Amino acid sequence: MNDQADALRHLIRQQENLRNQKMTRVVTVTSGKGGVGKSNFSLNFALSLQKLGCKVLVFDADIGMANIDVLMGVTSSYNLYHLMKQDKTIWDIIQLGPQGIHYIAGGSGVAELLYLSDRELERFEEEIGKLHGEYDVILFDTGAGLSKETVKFITAAEQTIVVTTPEPTSITDAYALIKMVKGMEPQVSFRLIVNRASNRREGTETAEKIALVARRFLQCDLPSLGIIPDDASVSKAVKRQKPFTLLFPDCAASASVMSIARAFLEVPQAAASAGGVKGFLHKLFSRSR
Ligand SMILES: Nc1ncnc2c1ncn2[C@@H]1O[C@H](COP(=O)(O)OP(=O)(O)O)[C@@H](O)[C@H]1O
Ligand SMILES: [Mg+2]
Repeated sequence: MNDQADALRHLIRQQENLRNQKMTRVVTVTSGKGGVGKSNFSLNFALSLQKLGCKVLVFDADIGMANIDVLMGVTSSYNLYHLMKQDKTIWDIIQLGPQGIHYIAGGSGVAELLYLSDRELERFEEEIGKLHGEYDVILFDTGAGLSKETVKFITAAEQTIVVTTPEPTSITDAYALIKMVKGMEPQVSFRLIVNRASNRREGTETAEKIALVARRFLQCDLPSLGIIPDDASVSKAVKRQKPFTLLFPDCAASASVMSIARAFLEVPQAAASAGGVKGFLHKLFSRSR
């Protein structure tokens, strides 16, 4: 009984925290190497945040391998391209996924982002600006590695979640990504997720190893946001095109993603200067003007 009351109080406190911020938190999810579980994490993290009472928008900004809609078993009729080039509004291109999650497909629009005419840019900013205050969290799932567009999203967001697995290639690529971004924009705030850990110890050791190197050589803080175990339920859910947190809410990966969502909400907005969607847009285009 007490446990339940505690859990409830905890939840109310988290929701109050969010309301007090009165800001949309813009977060990117990225990785050095592909195939480490970014899209699965983004979608299921979004669903878990939603379960905790947040309004979340997932934005698929991976140019080469956009596939959040495939993971949800949904096909999108419109994407960012239609907003930029065909006068669709932001509300036209928001799609509904399972559990009523809101989602935008970047499609070929993401690649156009850096080459918009002044008129298109103005329209893009106006439409995306309408999201300000509409959502508690906007999550951008970006491509692996550093394309120009991905760098833009990372440096404009309040926070970047870097996903790695315990494999050395994934670790070194994650480190290289952080190093490059830090070189361009020292203010970026990173958090780390270790996905597909064989056990808790392997996950913790991986997180500690990267954090140590980042601190020593880049003077960069890299707090761990959590560890997700390697779990056969993830692949089973992918094959059935259903998010694993919905298909297998009690599996080990789902439990981890839920505790990551709780941990994310406990830490207040990363930077006072974050500025929600408006701040994000400002930074996104500040250097292309
Ligand atoms: N925690 C996990 N446990 C087991 N398999 C996983 C896990 N996370 C991801 N995978 C596997 O990795 C594949 C790639 O995941 P995905 O989210 O598409 O990666 P990315 O977006 O980084 O390219 C999934 O289809 C799934 O089979
Ligand atoms: Mg992906």
